[in-house]
Amino acid sequence: SIPPEVPVSSLDWLLGNWESVEPGKGSYPSLKDFRYTEDLHFAQMGQPIINFMFNASDAETKKILHRECGFIRMQTGTNRVAFIIAQNSGLVEVEEGELVGKKLSLHTQALARPSFAKEPHVKEVSRVFQLQPDGKLEQTLSMSTDKQPMTQHLHITYSRLA
Ligand code: HEM
Repeated sequence: SIPPEVPVSSLDWLLGNWESVEPGKGSYPSLKDFRYTEDLHFAQMGQPIINFMFNASDAETKKILHRECGFIRMQTGTNRVAFIIAQNSGLVEVEEGELVGKKLSLHTQALARPSFAKEPHVKEVSRVFQLQPDGKLEQTLSMSTDKQPMTQHLHITYSRLA
């Protein structure tokens, strides 16, 4: 069957600025649990492509811990989505997945890093963005490294900034 036409406007619900209200929860078998805050920015810049920027900080010290930015593209005529991502850790990723309703499920499709990137090296990332019925946005992220199998690293909920 022919999939319905799904333009980038089907991602309109992501556009704008978001901020964690409650701190997010970070975890991993090799790490002490941590709490973080994060703001997200999604903007459409005159193409059917969304630019994004995510800034995460330690909830207590406010120190910037993690940043990522990039572009979101959709495959014309399908619900397939690609995130093209650069992270401050040096990781560069293409994540792909699909949009079903207001749920975006993504998985690593391609990955690269500087030759001198810190270890352990990330092998795969899986994440879900989901708009909740109360209008909040939730992100859950799992990853595997060359030392650990796929395990949850992050869970956080954002509110839309006015
Ligand atoms: C540690 C990857 C997002 C906070 C790590 C480690 C990796 C990693 C591979 C080392 C794990 C180990 O030693 O076994 C990623 C990836 C992310 C991501 C791929 C996104 C796609 C974030 C975000 C935060 C964060 C948004 C928010 C604050 C931390 C902290 C550590 C850590 C605090 C431990 C200290 C450190 O190694 O810097 N992350 N991370 N990460 N991550 Fe993430």
